[in-house]
Amino acid sequence: MKTIIISYSYTGNNEALAESVAKELSAKHYKVTTSKPLSMMTILLDMMFSRMPKVDPLPDITKEYDLVLLFGPIWMGKTASPLRAYLSTLKRNPRPYGFISISGGADGGNPKLAQELLKRTGKSPVILLDQHLSELLPPSSQITRKETSSYKINEADLKQLTKHTLEAIKKIIERKENI
Ligand SMILES: Cc1cc2nc3c(=O)[nH]c(=O)nc-3n(C[C@H](O)[C@H](O)[C@H](O)COP(=O)(O)O)c2cc1C
Repeated sequence: MKTIIISYSYTGNNEALAESVAKELSAKHYKVTTSKPLSMMTILLDMMFSRMPKVDPLPDITKEYDLVLLFGPIWMGKTASPLRAYLSTLKRNPRPYGFISISGGADGGNPKLAQELLKRTGKSPVILLDQHLSELLPPSSQITRKETSSYKINEADLKQLTKHTLEAIKKIIERKENI
């Protein structure tokens, strides 16, 4: 099954996971860049006005693959703006897709994410994994947005997150190959 991994990351967490999973699957991995570098201000404006920044690689690249795996952060309960152009392309050219995130989880999850993905692509993802930094923090720490947003995953976290992500992806790949 020809699988593409496309990742966007602002602070490095999702890129580290995407890289580790791509290596294990020997899948092609593209790291998304925006034509103008994002800042906290442009992120907030993107989310408030539902903006979709121009990105590289061009979203049409998804047409060449059987399974599209998008990795990226969740901002204000929604998919990070640099991944939205890929979701729009998946609406015009449907492919089985997964959305995998390491998000903060300080507020207990992102309940509107599944609905947003369905709206943007017209189809539910075959994999939806929202893994939370709040679960990786030491038990003694106060789980606040400030704390999760500044947390960078370490080697042990990466190993655990990679294992969990691979289990979910392999189930889907095996199911598709048996059809
Ligand atoms: C502007 C902004 C908004 C965020 N909103 C959420 C949110 O709604 N839900 C959540 O779980 N995490 C939220 N986070 C936390 C990020 O999803 C989390 O830090 C993630 O691991 C960052 O991924 P990255 O290192 O790949 O950029 C937010 C972070 C930022 C900077």
